[in-house]
Amino acid sequence: MLEEKTTRSFAIGAAAGLTAGLAANAVRKMFVQAPTLMAGEWDDALAAEHQATLAIFDQIEKTEDKHSTRRAILLTQLKHALAKHALEEENAIYAALRVHGQVAEADHLNSDHGYVKQYLFELSSMAANHPQFLPKIRDFRAMIETHMREEEERIFPKLRNMLSEEENAALTKAMNLEGLKIA
Ligand SMILES: [Fe+2]
Ligand SMILES: [Fe+2]
Repeated sequence: MLEEKTTRSFAIGAAAGLTAGLAANAVRKMFVQAPTLMAGEWDDALAAEHQATLAIFDQIEKTEDKHSTRRAILLTQLKHALAKHALEEENAIYAALRVHGQVAEADHLNSDHGYVKQYLFELSSMAANHPQFLPKIRDFRAMIETHMREEEERIFPKLRNMLSEEENAALTKAMNLEGLKIA
């Protein structure tokens, strides 16, 4: 009898834990998706993600070498945000660029993404309290800001203008589906 009760309460406890875990996951997904889904068209959504990414860089740049745990947490956030962003751009936007004749532009942006991954790899291999951590973060930020400006000011507006309203809407949908794979 006692054994049965214990088993049942364990099962209830495990179910509650599972529910809490699912809820936390849903909240995390909502939080990660919010800037994208609230922004509307694909290019506005990507610009909103750029701003959210730069806000993470701001927070890392405010840390000191002694804040290694905080740095590690922020680096994980940065990796997650950039993984989702890269999937959206590479699997939908850059592919659409090539379809519409912007092959060199797409290849150039794609090559930049390789270096984004390079920076993330090097930062992850480094102790978060290393004196070279912040200088590397600053180099990374400079590189990524140039990349974002090219996208926002030159390449994305051109593609958006080339596409009809329906094509832009379809691209937004395709991009959001890519983003959902990772969030
Ligand atoms: Fe990009
Ligand atoms: Fe981007």
